[in-house]
Amino acid sequence: MKRRNMKAIVFVCILSLVFATLVGCSSQTSTNGGSNNGSSSNESSTSGGSSSGTVDVGIVLPTKDEPRWIQDETRFNEALKDTDYSVEVLFSQGSSANEKQNVESLITKGIKVLIICPHDGDAAAAAAEAAKAEGITVIAYDRLITGTDAVDYYVTFDSVAVGEAQGQYLIDKAEGKGNPLYLYAGAASDNNAFLFFEGAWNVLQPKIADGTFVIKNSSEAVALQDKATLTRDEMSKIIGQVTTNWDFNEAKNKAEAHLTAASKEDKGDVFILAPNDGTARSIADTFAADPDVTSYVITGQDAEKASIQYIIDGKQTMTVFKDVRTLVKDSIDMAVSILEGKTPETTGSYNNKAIDVPAKQTEVIVVEQSNVKSALIDSGYYDASEFTNLN
Ligand code: BGC
Repeated sequence: MKRRNMKAIVFVCILSLVFATLVGCSSQTSTNGGSNNGSSSNESSTSGGSSSGTVDVGIVLPTKDEPRWIQDETRFNEALKDTDYSVEVLFSQGSSANEKQNVESLITKGIKVLIICPHDGDAAAAAAEAAKAEGITVIAYDRLITGTDAVDYYVTFDSVAVGEAQGQYLIDKAEGKGNPLYLYAGAASDNNAFLFFEGAWNVLQPKIADGTFVIKNSSEAVALQDKATLTRDEMSKIIGQVTTNWDFNEAKNKAEAHLTAASKEDKGDVFILAPNDGTARSIADTFAADPDVTSYVITGQDAEKASIQYIIDGKQTMTVFKDVRTLVKDSIDMAVSILEGKTPETTGSYNNKAIDVPAKQTEVIVVEQSNVKSALIDSGYYDASEFTNLN
Protein backbone atom coordinates (compact mmCIF):
# COMPACT_ATOMS: atom_id res chain seq x y z
CA MET A 1 0.00 0.00 0.00
CA LYS A 2 2.72 2.38 1.06
CA ARG A 3 4.80 1.46 -1.94
CA ARG A 4 1.82 2.22 -4.17
CA ASN A 5 1.42 5.65 -2.57
CA MET A 6 5.08 6.44 -3.18
CA LYS A 7 4.69 5.37 -6.75
CA ALA A 8 1.69 7.62 -7.07
CA ILE A 9 3.53 10.63 -5.70
CA VAL A 10 6.50 10.12 -7.98
CA PHE A 11 4.15 9.67 -10.83
CA VAL A 12 2.13 12.80 -10.16
CA CYS A 13 5.33 14.85 -9.87
CA ILE A 14 6.55 13.62 -13.20
CA LEU A 15 3.25 14.46 -14.73
CA SER A 16 3.14 18.03 -13.61
CA LEU A 17 6.78 18.78 -14.30
CA VAL A 18 7.48 17.10 -17.54
CA PHE A 19 4.36 17.14 -19.61
CA ALA A 20 1.98 20.01 -19.94
CA THR A 21 -0.72 17.85 -21.28
CA LEU A 22 0.61 14.33 -21.36
CA VAL A 23 0.88 12.21 -18.29
CA GLY A 24 1.27 8.60 -17.66
CA CYS A 25 1.88 5.61 -15.61
CA SER A 26 4.08 2.96 -17.06
CA SER A 27 7.43 2.47 -18.55
CA GLN A 28 6.55 -0.01 -21.18
CA THR A 29 3.69 -1.27 -23.22
CA SER A 30 3.16 -4.36 -25.21
CA THR A 31 1.04 -4.78 -28.27
CA ASN A 32 -1.13 -7.61 -29.31
CA GLY A 33 -2.74 -8.80 -32.47
CA GLY A 34 -0.80 -6.59 -34.82
CA SER A 35 -1.70 -8.89 -37.66
CA ASN A 36 -4.98 -8.57 -39.51
CA ASN A 37 -6.11 -12.10 -38.86
CA GLY A 38 -7.38 -11.34 -35.40
CA SER A 39 -4.66 -13.35 -33.69
CA SER A 40 -3.90 -12.26 -30.21
CA SER A 41 -0.30 -13.24 -29.69
CA ASN A 42 1.70 -10.93 -27.51
CA GLU A 43 4.59 -9.13 -29.13
CA SER A 44 6.30 -7.92 -25.99
CA SER A 45 5.63 -7.57 -22.32
CA THR A 46 5.74 -5.04 -19.57
CA SER A 47 8.41 -4.27 -17.07
CA GLY A 48 7.94 -0.84 -15.57
CA GLY A 49 7.82 -0.26 -11.87
CA SER A 50 6.37 -3.62 -11.12
CA SER A 51 9.16 -5.84 -9.82
CA SER A 52 6.71 -8.70 -9.35
CA GLY A 53 6.01 -8.91 -13.09
CA THR A 54 2.41 -7.91 -12.62
CA VAL A 55 0.61 -5.20 -14.54
CA ASP A 56 -1.20 -2.30 -12.82
CA VAL A 57 -3.26 -0.94 -15.70
CA GLY A 58 -4.48 -2.84 -18.75
CA ILE A 59 -5.45 -0.97 -21.91
CA VAL A 60 -7.43 -2.70 -24.64
CA LEU A 61 -7.94 -0.92 -27.98
CA PRO A 62 -10.20 -2.12 -30.81
CA THR A 63 -7.96 -2.46 -33.88
CA LYS A 64 -4.63 -1.54 -35.41
CA ASP A 65 -6.24 -1.41 -38.83
CA GLU A 66 -7.49 2.17 -38.41
CA PRO A 67 -5.06 5.07 -37.95
CA ARG A 68 -7.37 6.48 -35.28
CA TRP A 69 -6.42 3.75 -32.78
CA ILE A 70 -2.75 3.86 -33.70
CA GLN A 71 -2.97 7.53 -32.74
CA ASP A 72 -4.29 6.49 -29.35
CA GLU A 73 -1.56 3.89 -28.89
CA THR A 74 1.09 6.45 -29.82
CA ARG A 75 -0.33 9.01 -27.42
CA PHE A 76 -0.56 6.43 -24.62
CA ASN A 77 3.06 5.47 -25.22
CA GLU A 78 4.14 9.14 -25.15
CA ALA A 79 2.21 9.69 -21.97
CA LEU A 80 3.42 6.55 -20.30
CA LYS A 81 7.17 6.81 -20.69
CA ASP A 82 9.23 7.59 -17.58
CA THR A 83 6.57 6.54 -15.15
CA ASP A 84 6.39 3.99 -12.46
CA TYR A 85 3.18 2.07 -12.87
CA SER A 86 3.24 -0.83 -15.22
CA VAL A 87 0.85 -0.80 -18.13
CA GLU A 88 0.14 -3.12 -21.03
CA VAL A 89 -1.68 -2.16 -24.25
CA LEU A 90 -3.44 -4.89 -26.24
CA PHE A 91 -5.36 -4.71 -29.52
CA SER A 92 -8.47 -6.78 -30.23
CA GLN A 93 -8.30 -6.59 -34.04
CA GLY A 94 -12.01 -6.10 -34.55
CA SER A 95 -12.96 -9.26 -32.65
CA SER A 96 -14.96 -9.46 -29.44
CA ALA A 97 -13.50 -12.93 -28.79
CA ASN A 98 -9.94 -11.51 -28.95
CA GLU A 99 -11.05 -8.67 -26.75
CA LYS A 100 -12.34 -11.06 -24.08
CA GLN A 101 -9.11 -13.06 -24.29
CA ASN A 102 -7.10 -9.86 -23.92
CA VAL A 103 -9.04 -8.90 -20.82
CA GLU A 104 -8.64 -12.39 -19.35
CA SER A 105 -4.91 -12.30 -19.95
CA LEU A 106 -4.69 -8.91 -18.24
CA ILE A 107 -6.73 -10.21 -15.31
CA THR A 108 -4.22 -13.01 -14.81
CA LYS A 109 -1.48 -10.37 -14.72
CA GLY A 110 -3.17 -8.70 -11.76
CA ILE A 111 -4.40 -5.41 -13.25
CA LYS A 112 -6.26 -3.09 -10.90
CA VAL A 113 -7.69 -0.86 -13.62
CA LEU A 114 -8.90 -1.77 -17.10
CA ILE A 115 -9.14 0.96 -19.74
CA ILE A 116 -11.06 -0.51 -22.63
CA CYS A 117 -12.39 0.76 -25.94
CA PRO A 118 -14.80 -1.97 -27.01
CA HIS A 119 -15.00 -3.36 -30.51
CA ASP A 120 -18.70 -4.01 -29.94
CA GLY A 121 -20.36 -2.20 -27.04
CA ASP A 122 -22.87 -4.92 -26.13
CA ALA A 123 -20.50 -7.84 -26.62
CA ALA A 124 -17.85 -6.23 -24.41
CA ALA A 125 -20.19 -6.46 -21.42
CA ALA A 126 -18.95 -10.01 -20.76
CA ALA A 127 -15.31 -8.87 -20.67
CA ALA A 128 -16.19 -5.97 -18.37
CA GLU A 129 -18.12 -8.31 -16.07
CA ALA A 130 -15.18 -10.74 -15.93
CA ALA A 131 -12.90 -7.87 -14.87
CA LYS A 132 -15.40 -6.49 -12.39
CA ALA A 133 -15.77 -9.92 -10.77
CA GLU A 134 -12.06 -9.67 -9.91
CA GLY A 135 -12.49 -6.27 -8.27
CA ILE A 136 -10.96 -4.42 -11.22
CA THR A 137 -12.19 -0.91 -11.98
CA VAL A 138 -13.44 -0.70 -15.55
CA ILE A 139 -13.06 2.51 -17.55
CA ALA A 140 -14.76 2.61 -20.96
CA TYR A 141 -12.51 4.58 -23.30
CA ASP A 142 -14.07 6.61 -26.17
CA ARG A 143 -16.77 3.96 -26.82
CA LEU A 144 -19.26 3.04 -24.13
CA ILE A 145 -19.74 -0.58 -23.03
CA THR A 146 -23.48 -1.13 -23.05
CA GLY A 147 -26.11 -3.23 -21.29
CA THR A 148 -24.16 -3.95 -18.11
CA ASP A 149 -23.56 -2.41 -14.70
CA ALA A 150 -19.92 -3.53 -14.82
CA VAL A 151 -18.64 -0.18 -16.16
CA ASP A 152 -17.36 2.21 -13.53
CA TYR A 153 -16.37 5.22 -15.63
CA TYR A 154 -16.46 6.53 -19.16
CA VAL A 155 -13.84 8.83 -20.69
CA THR A 156 -15.06 10.29 -23.93
CA PHE A 157 -15.33 13.12 -26.40
CA ASP A 158 -18.64 14.90 -26.80
CA SER A 159 -19.88 12.57 -29.53
CA VAL A 160 -23.22 14.26 -30.08
CA ALA A 161 -21.26 17.50 -30.65
CA VAL A 162 -19.13 15.66 -33.24
CA GLY A 163 -22.26 14.84 -35.27
CA GLU A 164 -23.65 18.34 -34.80
CA ALA A 165 -20.40 19.86 -36.03
CA GLN A 166 -20.47 17.65 -39.12
CA GLY A 167 -24.11 18.48 -39.87
CA GLN A 168 -23.65 22.19 -39.23
CA TYR A 169 -20.65 22.27 -41.55
CA LEU A 170 -22.75 20.94 -44.42
CA ILE A 171 -25.49 23.47 -43.64
CA ASP A 172 -23.01 26.35 -43.64
CA LYS A 173 -21.71 25.36 -47.08
CA ALA A 174 -25.13 24.87 -48.69
CA GLU A 175 -26.94 27.56 -50.69
CA GLY A 176 -30.51 27.58 -51.93
CA LYS A 177 -32.79 24.57 -51.96
CA GLY A 178 -32.68 21.00 -53.24
CA ASN A 179 -29.04 20.24 -52.45
CA PRO A 180 -28.35 16.48 -52.83
CA LEU A 181 -27.46 14.93 -49.48
CA TYR A 182 -25.81 11.53 -49.02
CA LEU A 183 -25.79 10.11 -45.49
CA TYR A 184 -23.30 7.58 -44.13
CA ALA A 185 -22.91 6.23 -40.60
CA GLY A 186 -20.58 4.19 -38.41
CA ALA A 187 -21.02 0.63 -37.15
CA ALA A 188 -24.28 -0.17 -35.36
CA SER A 189 -22.27 -2.21 -32.83
CA ASP A 190 -20.63 1.05 -31.71
CA ASN A 191 -22.76 3.24 -29.45
CA ASN A 192 -20.88 6.26 -30.77
CA ALA A 193 -22.33 5.70 -34.24
CA PHE A 194 -25.74 6.52 -32.76
CA LEU A 195 -24.46 9.58 -30.91
CA PHE A 196 -22.77 10.94 -34.05
CA PHE A 197 -25.88 10.33 -36.11
CA GLU A 198 -28.13 11.84 -33.46
CA GLY A 199 -26.01 14.99 -33.44
CA ALA A 200 -26.00 15.29 -37.21
CA TRP A 201 -29.75 14.67 -37.42
CA ASN A 202 -30.41 17.32 -34.74
CA VAL A 203 -29.11 20.02 -37.03
CA LEU A 204 -29.73 18.55 -40.48
CA GLN A 205 -33.36 17.51 -40.03
CA PRO A 206 -34.81 21.05 -40.04
CA LYS A 207 -32.80 21.75 -43.18
CA ILE A 208 -34.13 18.61 -44.81
CA ALA A 209 -37.66 19.52 -43.76
CA ASP A 210 -37.34 23.02 -45.27
CA GLY A 211 -36.00 21.66 -48.57
CA THR A 212 -32.41 22.89 -48.28
CA PHE A 213 -31.26 19.27 -48.57
CA VAL A 214 -32.78 16.30 -50.32
CA ILE A 215 -31.68 12.87 -49.06
CA LYS A 216 -30.56 10.74 -52.00
CA ASN A 217 -29.38 7.44 -50.57
CA SER A 218 -31.65 6.26 -47.76
CA SER A 219 -35.34 5.46 -48.08
CA GLU A 220 -35.46 4.94 -44.30
CA ALA A 221 -34.13 8.45 -43.68
CA VAL A 222 -36.59 9.87 -46.19
CA ALA A 223 -39.45 8.07 -44.41
CA LEU A 224 -38.38 9.70 -41.12
CA GLN A 225 -37.36 13.10 -42.45
CA ASP A 226 -40.18 15.00 -40.76
CA LYS A 227 -39.23 13.74 -37.30
CA ALA A 228 -36.99 16.13 -35.38
CA THR A 229 -36.00 13.53 -32.80
CA LEU A 230 -35.46 9.90 -33.63
CA THR A 231 -35.72 6.94 -31.27
CA ARG A 232 -32.82 4.51 -31.16
CA ASP A 233 -34.89 2.04 -33.18
CA GLU A 234 -35.56 4.66 -35.84
CA MET A 235 -31.88 5.54 -35.99
CA SER A 236 -31.11 1.82 -36.26
CA LYS A 237 -33.21 1.63 -39.40
CA ILE A 238 -31.31 4.44 -41.08
CA ILE A 239 -27.91 3.31 -39.83
CA GLY A 240 -28.72 -0.23 -41.00
CA GLN A 241 -29.09 1.17 -44.49
CA VAL A 242 -26.15 3.58 -44.64
CA THR A 243 -23.63 1.97 -42.29
CA THR A 244 -20.00 1.81 -43.30
CA ASN A 245 -19.29 -0.54 -40.39
CA TRP A 246 -16.27 1.74 -39.95
CA ASP A 247 -14.80 -0.17 -42.87
CA PHE A 248 -13.11 1.67 -45.75
CA ASN A 249 -14.05 -0.93 -48.35
CA GLU A 250 -17.63 -1.15 -47.21
CA ALA A 251 -17.81 2.66 -47.39
CA LYS A 252 -16.44 2.61 -50.94
CA ASN A 253 -18.76 -0.16 -52.10
CA LYS A 254 -21.77 1.55 -50.61
CA ALA A 255 -20.88 4.90 -52.18
CA GLU A 256 -20.39 3.22 -55.56
CA ALA A 257 -23.76 1.49 -55.29
CA HIS A 258 -25.46 4.76 -54.33
CA LEU A 259 -23.91 6.61 -57.25
CA THR A 260 -24.85 3.84 -59.65
CA ALA A 261 -28.45 4.01 -58.45
CA ALA A 262 -28.56 7.83 -58.58
CA SER A 263 -29.55 9.78 -61.67
CA LYS A 264 -27.47 12.65 -63.06
CA GLU A 265 -29.91 15.08 -61.40
CA ASP A 266 -29.20 13.46 -58.00
CA LYS A 267 -25.54 14.43 -58.36
CA GLY A 268 -24.04 17.80 -59.36
CA ASP A 269 -22.94 19.74 -56.26
CA VAL A 270 -23.38 17.20 -53.48
CA PHE A 271 -23.17 17.16 -49.70
CA ILE A 272 -21.93 14.07 -47.89
CA LEU A 273 -22.20 13.23 -44.21
CA ALA A 274 -19.27 10.84 -43.71
CA PRO A 275 -18.89 9.62 -40.14
CA ASN A 276 -15.10 9.55 -39.83
CA ASP A 277 -11.89 10.22 -41.73
CA GLY A 278 -11.17 6.70 -42.97
CA THR A 279 -14.61 6.30 -44.48
CA ALA A 280 -14.57 9.93 -45.70
CA ARG A 281 -11.45 9.32 -47.80
CA SER A 282 -13.00 6.22 -49.40
CA ILE A 283 -16.31 7.94 -50.08
CA ALA A 284 -14.63 11.13 -51.31
CA ASP A 285 -12.47 9.20 -53.78
CA THR A 286 -15.57 7.44 -55.09
CA PHE A 287 -17.56 10.65 -55.53
CA ALA A 288 -14.56 12.42 -57.07
CA ALA A 289 -14.36 9.70 -59.73
CA ASP A 290 -17.99 10.19 -60.84
CA PRO A 291 -18.13 12.56 -63.85
CA ASP A 292 -21.63 13.72 -62.85
CA VAL A 293 -20.45 14.95 -59.47
CA THR A 294 -19.41 18.56 -60.06
CA SER A 295 -18.33 19.30 -56.50
CA TYR A 296 -18.70 17.76 -53.08
CA VAL A 297 -18.55 18.86 -49.46
CA ILE A 298 -17.67 15.96 -47.17
CA THR A 299 -17.27 15.67 -43.42
CA GLY A 300 -14.97 13.49 -41.32
CA GLN A 301 -13.60 13.11 -37.83
CA ASP A 302 -10.37 12.13 -36.07
CA ALA A 303 -7.91 14.48 -37.79
CA GLU A 304 -6.03 11.48 -39.14
CA LYS A 305 -2.81 12.48 -40.89
CA ALA A 306 -4.01 11.12 -44.23
CA SER A 307 -7.18 13.19 -43.96
CA ILE A 308 -5.30 16.33 -43.01
CA GLN A 309 -3.34 15.89 -46.24
CA TYR A 310 -6.66 15.35 -48.05
CA ILE A 311 -7.97 18.59 -46.54
CA ILE A 312 -4.82 20.48 -47.55
CA ASP A 313 -5.23 19.05 -51.06
CA GLY A 314 -8.94 19.93 -51.21
CA LYS A 315 -10.08 16.30 -51.37
CA GLN A 316 -11.83 16.24 -47.97
CA THR A 317 -13.59 19.33 -46.69
CA MET A 318 -13.44 19.10 -42.93
CA THR A 319 -12.65 16.87 -40.01
CA VAL A 320 -13.58 16.99 -36.36
CA PHE A 321 -10.39 17.09 -34.33
CA LYS A 322 -10.63 15.00 -31.20
CA ASP A 323 -7.44 15.70 -29.28
CA VAL A 324 -6.45 12.19 -28.25
CA ARG A 325 -3.84 13.65 -25.89
CA THR A 326 -6.66 14.91 -23.69
CA LEU A 327 -8.51 11.61 -23.72
CA VAL A 328 -5.33 9.73 -22.86
CA LYS A 329 -4.50 12.17 -20.10
CA ASP A 330 -8.02 11.98 -18.64
CA SER A 331 -8.05 8.20 -18.61
CA ILE A 332 -4.60 7.94 -17.08
CA ASP A 333 -5.45 10.56 -14.47
CA MET A 334 -8.54 8.53 -13.69
CA ALA A 335 -6.56 5.29 -13.42
CA VAL A 336 -4.04 6.93 -11.10
CA SER A 337 -6.79 8.32 -8.86
CA ILE A 338 -8.22 4.82 -8.60
CA LEU A 339 -4.81 3.30 -7.85
CA GLU A 340 -4.40 5.92 -5.15
CA GLY A 341 -7.76 5.01 -3.66
CA LYS A 342 -9.38 8.30 -4.64
CA THR A 343 -12.62 8.95 -6.49
CA PRO A 344 -11.89 10.20 -10.00
CA GLU A 345 -13.26 13.50 -11.21
CA THR A 346 -16.23 13.21 -13.58
CA THR A 347 -18.30 15.85 -15.34
CA GLY A 348 -21.57 14.08 -16.14
CA SER A 349 -22.94 10.69 -17.02
CA TYR A 350 -23.98 8.53 -19.97
CA ASN A 351 -26.73 5.93 -19.85
CA ASN A 352 -25.49 2.60 -21.17
CA LYS A 353 -28.93 0.93 -21.31
CA ALA A 354 -28.34 -0.50 -17.79
CA ILE A 355 -26.97 2.30 -15.60
CA ASP A 356 -25.83 5.93 -15.75
CA VAL A 357 -22.05 5.69 -16.09
CA PRO A 358 -20.13 8.64 -14.55
CA ALA A 359 -18.22 10.27 -17.40
CA LYS A 360 -15.47 12.76 -18.17
CA GLN A 361 -16.13 14.46 -21.48
CA THR A 362 -13.90 16.45 -23.82
CA GLU A 363 -14.89 19.03 -26.41
CA VAL A 364 -14.05 18.81 -30.10
CA ILE A 365 -12.77 21.27 -32.73
CA VAL A 366 -13.76 21.63 -36.39
CA VAL A 367 -10.75 21.65 -38.72
CA GLU A 368 -10.85 22.74 -42.35
CA GLN A 369 -8.21 24.06 -44.75
CA SER A 370 -8.16 27.51 -43.11
CA ASN A 371 -7.23 26.32 -39.61
CA VAL A 372 -5.12 23.20 -40.12
CA LYS A 373 -2.08 25.14 -39.01
CA SER A 374 -3.51 26.80 -35.94
CA ALA A 375 -5.44 23.75 -34.71
CA LEU A 376 -2.99 20.97 -35.43
CA ILE A 377 0.50 22.33 -36.07
CA ASP A 378 0.66 25.23 -33.64
CA SER A 379 -0.81 23.03 -30.91
CA GLY A 380 2.00 20.54 -31.44
CA TYR A 381 -0.37 17.74 -32.39
CA TYR A 382 1.40 17.20 -35.71
CA ASP A 383 4.62 18.48 -37.20
CA ALA A 384 4.40 20.62 -40.35
CA SER A 385 7.00 18.34 -41.96
CA GLU A 386 4.44 15.51 -41.96
CA PHE A 387 2.47 17.26 -44.73
CA THR A 388 3.10 18.62 -48.19
CA ASN A 389 1.80 21.94 -49.61
CA LEU A 390 0.93 23.24 -46.16
CA ASN A 391 0.93 27.04 -46.45
C1 BGC B 1 -14.57 6.67 -32.59
C2 BGC B 1 -14.07 7.37 -33.83
C3 BGC B 1 -13.57 6.34 -34.84
C4 BGC B 1 -14.59 5.26 -35.06
C5 BGC B 1 -14.07 4.14 -35.92
C6 BGC B 1 -15.60 5.66 -32.97
O1 BGC B 1 -16.08 5.00 -31.85
O2 BGC B 1 -15.10 7.61 -31.69
O3 BGC B 1 -13.06 8.29 -33.47
O4 BGC B 1 -13.28 6.95 -36.05
O5 BGC B 1 -15.00 4.70 -33.83
O6 BGC B 1 -13.04 3.47 -35.32
